[in-house]
Amino acid sequence: MKIIETERMILRSLTINDAKDVFEWAGDPIVNRYMPYPLHENVHQTEEWISTLGDKNEFAFSLKDTGKVIGSGSITYRAEYKAYELGYNLNRKFWGKGYATEAAKAMIQWAYQVLSAHDFFARHANANKASGNVIIKCGFQFDKYGQYSRYDGSEMFEASYYTLHLE
Ligand SMILES: CC(C)(COP(=O)(O)OP(=O)(O)OC[C@H]1O[C@@H](n2cnc3c(N)ncnc32)[C@H](O)[C@@H]1OP(=O)(O)O)[C@@H](O)C(=O)NCCC(=O)NCCS
Repeated sequence: MKIIETERMILRSLTINDAKDVFEWAGDPIVNRYMPYPLHENVHQTEEWISTLGDKNEFAFSLKDTGKVIGSGSITYRAEYKAYELGYNLNRKFWGKGYATEAAKAMIQWAYQVLSAHDFFARHANANKASGNVIIKCGFQFDKYGQYSRYDGSEMFEASYYTLHLE
């Protein structure tokens, strides 16, 4: 069982029962603006996505006080970088309250302790200042400028890449 406890959240695997909560952000074009995955058109698409996750390290961010799932994040090994990539997105109603930083820090610590991960990277579209702030608050250092594109190739983003090494 993958469970991480933070001050205000429980981070755990996503289940099909979370689909309605997840669709609140996965179907929101503003949240999706700089994400590589396509905007979800309906909750069934969200259910399908959740059903593909298997044992991937994709965590639901569930509020301790209500149980509501307000976002999700991932820690994914990328062989080409020899490092674990950090990713996250959050329901817009819950932005600006420190949740992404709290969850991201906890996922990094979890990966360090449980996966023996020492090297991490993260990237954000240059226009996506909020994500850049989360990355910096997690202790990452700027590495280089680059680009990434949406999975369907419809858009390319100018981006900044960061690395974090934990001894
Ligand atoms: C990026 C995202 C996850 C940040 O979530 P969040 O919970 O609002 O972030 P936090 O509250 O932890 O904020 C982290 C820092 O960024 C700052 N910040 C938040 N929104 C900001 C914005 N729109 N512009 C600039 N800074 C912002 C916060 O003030 C905070 O810094 P501070 O503690 O010094 O004040 C959220 O905006 C989101 O889901 N965006 C869409 C999806 C996305 O872009 N994911 C990342 C792809 S790389």
